[in-house]
Amino acid sequence: MLSIHNLSKTYQVNGKYLEAVKPFSMDIVPGKVYCFLGPNGAGKTTTIKMLCGLVSPTTGTIAYNGRDIIGGSWISRPKTGAVLEGARNINWRLTVPENIDYFCGLHGLSGHRIRAEQYIQMLGLENHKNTECRYLSRGNQQKVALACALTLDAEVLLLDEPTLGLDIEIARAIMEVINHEKSKNRIIIVSTHDTEFIELAADEVVLFKNGILKPLGTPQEIMAKHGNGDNRFSTAYLQLIRS
Ligand SMILES: Nc1ncnc2c1ncn2[C@@H]1O[C@H](COP(=O)(O)OP(=O)(O)OP(=O)(O)O)[C@@H](O)[C@H]1O
Ligand SMILES: [Mg+2]
Repeated sequence: MLSIHNLSKTYQVNGKYLEAVKPFSMDIVPGKVYCFLGPNGAGKTTTIKMLCGLVSPTTGTIAYNGRDIIGGSWISRPKTGAVLEGARNINWRLTVPENIDYFCGLHGLSGHRIRAEQYIQMLGLENHKNTECRYLSRGNQQKVALACALTLDAEVLLLDEPTLGLDIEIARAIMEVINHEKSKNRIIIVSTHDTEFIELAADEVVLFKNGILKPLGTPQEIMAKHGNGDNRFSTAYLQLIRS
């Protein structure tokens, strides 16, 4: 379990302070998909970056199974697979398996070949295997980034907008693969604006609004409470965000 206590981030830009994430506490349990949702600039990426150690929190602690992972050494961190915003999660001059080998090598892994092949198949990358990633489409590059993160067999999976700009089929394939990961008892956090993804994959929706986080339950609970009888998640979301 990830236990987050009083975590916050204030950036300083041109002498001014910006409270990107206000202090919050929550427990994140394995085997569920947590979806971070909210307007642009609400603090989702900043929170994900704090969780994977790329941004230092201004306040707070994060513990993984009771072990402090901010104050502790790098070794005390759980193995984490992350796909961040943008297209630079992979090495563009390497092929798909070479990228996977590269990232697994950084984590000191070997013997990951069978797992890598499984993810290559699941994500429909088998016909692109021998192509340098710089020649792949954006959607396929995103799938490669996901294949690298998943092959690590990490305890924590952090995905920032994994379906951004992808066609419906690729987005659905990625969602199905993420859903499949639930059975492996990982911590899974996904930031997304994709309401279909939320409806089909989220177990816990965490709403971000002006740097404030609120866990709201399942999409179905949210729709029942805030959807005004409409069965689209976006209707309930708009009602929530405007209130
Ligand atoms: N490195 C940085 N330095 C200063 N301010 C930053 C930095 N990164 C983000 N911010 C600011 O922090 C706030 C939260 O940004 P963040 O990227 O976390 O939002 P987000 O919820 O991920 O938005 P989006 O939906 O657009 O991806 C914004 O006001 C943003 O401008
Ligand atoms: Mg973001």
